[in-house]
Amino acid sequence: VPQTIRDARAADAAAIAELLGELGYPATEAAVTSRLERLVIVGDRVVVADVDGEVVGLAHLHVSPTIEHERPAGKLGALVVAESHRGRGIGRLLVEAVEEEATARGCGIFFVTTAERRDDAHAFYESLGLERTGRRYGRTLSQ
Ligand SMILES: CC(C)(COP(=O)(O)OP(=O)(O)OC[C@H]1O[C@@H](n2cnc3c(N)ncnc32)[C@H](O)[C@@H]1OP(=O)(O)O)[C@@H](O)C(=O)NCCC(=O)NCCS
Repeated sequence: VPQTIRDARAADAAAIAELLGELGYPATEAAVTSRLERLVIVGDRVVVADVDGEVVGLAHLHVSPTIEHERPAGKLGALVVAESHRGRGIGRLLVEAVEEEATARGCGIFFVTTAERRDDAHAFYESLGLERTGRRYGRTLSQ
């Protein structure tokens, strides 16, 4: 399948909104447009998988400086491949693209946090050779 991993563009907002719905975080096209703008401002990268002009996957890289390490940390934020296109190596390509960028930007670690319920994602990350190294604790905040 001819496929490219490329930077997300404003014109991808509707397709990205659709993918975020598949991830469990439905969003409007307008919301995605402004989120993309904000991410660019903080220097994050959002890449998409483009298969014959159709956006079928996305990955977000967030690079943050830390107080405890000299080198920044590269975090894989959202990652999703359209259900119709899973199991064809697209997720792997997306992760490779953002990990390469994290390396190029001098990150000392590349990591992702994932919900306990996402069994498929856990198997996927392990097949990519990522090690399970921690737990995540959190709560949602009200306004
Ligand atoms: C997780 C996800 C991104 C994987 O994308 P994908 O394009 O299907 O994955 P790939 O085809 O690149 O798979 C890469 C490797 O992972 C393995 N893998 C992928 N999904 C798997 C699963 N459900 N169970 C076991 N192994 C799996 C593949 O076998 C493959 O290994 P191989 O190259 O040795 O054959 C995709 O399933 C998805 O979008 N899931 C829903 C959203 C989600 O959970 N996102 C992560 C949130 S933290």
